[in-house]
Amino acid sequence: MKVLVTGAKGMLGSDLCPVFAEKHQVVATDLEEMDVRDPQVISAVFEQTQPDLVLHLAAMTNVDGCQGMTDQTFLTNAIGTKNLALACQNAHACMVYISTGSVFDGTKNEPYTEFDTPHPRSEYSKAKYQGELLVRELLKEHYIVRAGWMFGGGERDKKFVGKIINLAAQGKKLQVVDDKFGSPTYTVDMARGILKLVETGWYGTYHMANEGCCSRFEYAQKIVELVGIPNHLLEPISSDAFSLPAPRPRMEGIRDYLLHLMGLDWMRSWEEALEDYIKNRLLKEQS
Ligand SMILES: NC(=O)c1ccc[n+]([C@@H]2O[C@H](COP(=O)([O-])OP(=O)(O)OC[C@H]3O[C@@H](n4cnc5c(N)ncnc54)[C@H](OP(=O)(O)O)[C@@H]3O)[C@@H](O)[C@H]2O)c1
Repeated sequence: MKVLVTGAKGMLGSDLCPVFAEKHQVVATDLEEMDVRDPQVISAVFEQTQPDLVLHLAAMTNVDGCQGMTDQTFLTNAIGTKNLALACQNAHACMVYISTGSVFDGTKNEPYTEFDTPHPRSEYSKAKYQGELLVRELLKEHYIVRAGWMFGGGERDKKFVGKIINLAAQGKKLQVVDDKFGSPTYTVDMARGILKLVETGWYGTYHMANEGCCSRFEYAQKIVELVGIPNHLLEPISSDAFSLPAPRPRMEGIRDYLLHLMGLDWMRSWEEALEDYIKNRLLKEQS
């Protein structure tokens, strides 16, 4: 297949493109090559590349940044998705849209399944959810894949795992919230999962996170344990102590219930995936 990827230089994209390139012809694009807000540019890229499958990863992903930029957030995350869905409709291409477990409001006491009803609270999550609705409305042949708290990217990891390691390595005491819960998701596992999913032809909406759920504090504890940094540097703290622009759901954990019901249980536990990422990749790349 000819696979067109948006947001290819991002954390997920940089791990997903090599995985897809093992089996398919990949055309990797990012903001520079194809701004998803611009239907004319999309049309020209589709004409040139004639994709069979579009993996739509591009988005504004800074949740707090999005909170003060509602128009730009909806233009990129919702309308940008609509632009791509229309182009896929026109080109008879299948689309994979990466969404988020934060489309739920977080009031549930356990991880969300695909059968729970979304109720997004932040501008980022609202726009991502509108993107889901537009994909469903415009395309029959689509997969919507909701991810949990993603980690990956290796050397360039500036997100939660990278930040915790850098700060802890400097011997800094870190306060980490223990009242927000989620499902860590390794980008490489997710890329391999999506690769298998698109081979099934079983279109629909799926949760795809590594198995299990933890608090941010438990996640940080596991990270420092794997790196071999003393965990007394970590202090659990309530999220009430941090005032952030965007509301964060208490529960962002998701369960891969559909994959399980359909016999497609591919994702290993988050602890196993995190160990693989930190020991076999991050630490090796840094040494
Ligand atoms: N990270 C997570 O924990 C998480 C969890 C659940 C779901 N997701 C979803 O997974 C997808 C990938 O996330 P990620 O963490 O890999 O994000 P990321 O690292 O921020 O990558 C997103 C990429 O999209 C590009 N982009 C932004 N605006 C664009 C536009 N108008 N046109 C084309 N490209 C544009 C960005 O370019 P610039 O850097 O130049 O802006 C960036 O390279 C996103 O759709 C996100 O909503 C992420």
